[in-house]
Amino acid sequence: MAQATDPYALFAEWLAEAEKSEPNDPNALCLATSTPEGRPSARMVLLKGHDDRGFVFYTNLESRKGEQLAANPFAAMCFHWKSLRRSIRVEGQIESVTDAEADAYYATRPRGSRIGAWASRQSRPLEGRWALEKAVADYTMKFGVSAIPRPAFWSGFRLIPDRIEFWRDMPFRLHERRVFHPEGEAWREEALYP
Ligand SMILES: Cc1cc2nc3c(=O)[nH]c(=O)nc-3n(C[C@H](O)[C@H](O)[C@H](O)COP(=O)(O)O)c2cc1C
Repeated sequence: MAQATDPYALFAEWLAEAEKSEPNDPNALCLATSTPEGRPSARMVLLKGHDDRGFVFYTNLESRKGEQLAANPFAAMCFHWKSLRRSIRVEGQIESVTDAEADAYYATRPRGSRIGAWASRQSRPLEGRWALEKAVADYTMKFGVSAIPRPAFWSGFRLIPDRIEFWRDMPFRLHERRVFHPEGEAWREEALYP
């Protein structure tokens, strides 16, 4: 019997191909969250980790998405690689990454981005561009040449998939759709009409 496809391995293959073909941000995805009342919102984020535990991104926990995920820990992701005419959709439950994991990723960010995380009150009203520039200048002064700790309000989330779909463009819009559902330790694959 043919070996069942591991969707995480297939994801890694597709992302590696996108890294060769996309002009920028091959790891960009549209992230959908919703309020407990079921009002959805969507925005782009960058994928910063993926393995057989799920798909990780980082953000400000006090942002709109952060507040929605705290109240309703489910999300959906959609990747679209235009040059490859491929898309991947992932849906599932959200968990927080550990402090150690977030610290390790934060430490890899350029110093300017680490200061930016402190300076941005993401998703809240901005009095003017000057206010952001002043906050960046203040934190730059504050930290000087010392180490910049990760803000407590900035961390990552992991989406633990209960559905992963691979979509591939085919002639005459007869596209290929392969959906994977977890079943215990394994995955069940199903094909869908386009
Ligand atoms: C290509 C791209 C990548 C982005 N990556 C991130 C990201 O990794 N984390 C993040 O918080 N915002 C990222 N943003 C900004 C978000 O799209 C969004 O403006 C911000 O997170 C606030 O969203 P919210 O108000 O719904 O929380 C990115 C935007 C673009 C266009």
